[in-house]
Amino acid sequence: MSNKTGRLLIVNGPNLNMLGTREPGIYGSSTLGDVEDLCRRAASEAGYEVELVQSNHEGTIIDAIQSAKDSADGIIINPAAYTHTSVAIADALRAVALPVVEVHLSNVHAREEFRRHSFISPAAVAVIAGAGLNGYRYAVDHLASLLRED
Ligand code: DQA
Repeated sequence: MSNKTGRLLIVNGPNLNMLGTREPGIYGSSTLGDVEDLCRRAASEAGYEVELVQSNHEGTIIDAIQSAKDSADGIIINPAAYTHTSVAIADALRAVALPVVEVHLSNVHAREEFRRHSFISPAAVAVIAGAGLNGYRYAVDHLASLLRED
């Protein structure tokens, strides 16, 4: 499964650059910078470097996933609203055949009906939703432990 690059790709999708001010009652007051610091720290503790990508554009996210084929051992992705719409991101994740953990800050199952369907989950080895920022830490730890088993 692993390419043994010692790197994880961590992707945050549309509107996650607005964390901190965006619907704080749902997403909390932490910023994207806080998310990225936490990911960097958790990955470093697990012995990995990270490549961090945030984009509001589906094609940019797909390009980052395709590049990870040779530059990362696994992918953590919060596809944000693309979770519920993007066959193309799900296809890219399958195409690179790396282990994927899907993360959502909020519990998408306790919100509107349309958030309960994910095109991404069938391409993921694990899905973490509703744990806020901690979800990214759990995702890094889980991915690192899967990669160690390889
Ligand atoms: C989200 C949940 C999605 O439904 C929403 O569109 C987002 C963020 C989350 O992290 O809880 O933008 O992925």
